[in-house]
Amino acid sequence: MDEFGEIDRSGSNAEKYTLRQKLFGTDNVQPMWVADMDLATPVYVLDAVRERLIHPVLGYEIMKDSAYEAQCKWIHEHHDWEIKREWLSYSPSVVASIGCAIRAFSDEGDEVIVMSPVYPPFFSMVNENNRHLITHSLTQNSEGGYGFDSELLRTQITPKTKILLLCSPHNPIGRVWRKNELLALGAVCLEYGVVIVSDEVHSDIVYEGHAHIPIASLSDELSECTVTLLGPGKTFNMAGFGISTVCIASKKLRDLYDGQRRLVHFGDGAVLSHVAFEAAYTYGKEWHKALIDHLQTNRDTIAQWSAQNTQIRFIPPQGTYLAWVDCRKLGMGDRELREFFIQKAGLGLSAGLSFGREGSGFMRLNFAVSTSALEIALAKIGTALKERK
Ligand SMILES: Cc1ncc(COP(=O)(O)O)c(C=O)c1O
Repeated sequence: MDEFGEIDRSGSNAEKYTLRQKLFGTDNVQPMWVADMDLATPVYVLDAVRERLIHPVLGYEIMKDSAYEAQCKWIHEHHDWEIKREWLSYSPSVVASIGCAIRAFSDEGDEVIVMSPVYPPFFSMVNENNRHLITHSLTQNSEGGYGFDSELLRTQITPKTKILLLCSPHNPIGRVWRKNELLALGAVCLEYGVVIVSDEVHSDIVYEGHAHIPIASLSDELSECTVTLLGPGKTFNMAGFGISTVCIASKKLRDLYDGQRRLVHFGDGAVLSHVAFEAAYTYGKEWHKALIDHLQTNRDTIAQWSAQNTQIRFIPPQGTYLAWVDCRKLGMGDRELREFFIQKAGLGLSAGLSFGREGSGFMRLNFAVSTSALEIALAKIGTALKERK
């Protein structure tokens, strides 16, 4: 069996499929939206879960130190960052950790900076916690590459600015931030005492020529002002296990965070997810390498396709399995664009506008599928474009 071949998820309760009617008004779309993979979770993870099920009792369990240590070892080997077990705590989801961090490091009415376009809960968690959103718009150069302006960022900070929410690597634009960029961003946050909450859940999906750098690993000062959100959900396709971690070196920030964590009673998570987590990080090295090769093939497949279909511009992402597709040359409004992909191409993609107004004219396509499924999707877009002419 091809490890990254076609998978039929129709018999499962996969959100990507079951929510199609609600989101796209039809079940008749190939779904390429929410960021999980239409690829099998590694078999060694499934085997570890099956083995745990031999024992007939599934009562309360705490997460073992060995599970946290497996994650520490993975991060050391893959991202050259040495973290200590006591810096880590369990969280049921990265988004829940964002909410908890917002409440821990700011008060109602304080300001939180996000760099847009970005993963939609970055906006909603700030707004729903009654904090004030400061949007730093990422800008594109003539080649389509995105960046931020640290001098402009400095001018956006006020005495009420308490947190910068960093997405690293950045969903949806696929940037893997370079060391000089992170240092510039970090210098501004250090100067004004802004806590960096760095969502690094995509950090293991990075392509040749790029390397993920945890911002907290760059200096002791940055380590002391950063809260890093980590997890196996994207890397090993186990988002459905509801397990992630929060890494905080600073005792002061950790105490503040733990105060909020206790209020919502995160607890210690689910038995089967503990087992899956430890197995994923312990035995994942070879599987992960093969996954990156597969995703890189898919990324290149889109690049070759877009070289032939020049109405649609595709800048290959440096990281993540998400293609940020520039459709502005088609000259459609956002609603028309979304309908074009649903009705004419038969695809369920994420609308660019849902990632902030900077996403107008873009669509996000999740290419973590078999290469054959991707080719089918690209052919459908090609046909829809021809019919439009
Ligand atoms: C940047 C980012 N953070 C967090 C999440 C979701 O993480 P979780 O399911 O653990 O809340 C996603 C999912 O797409 C994401 O892209």
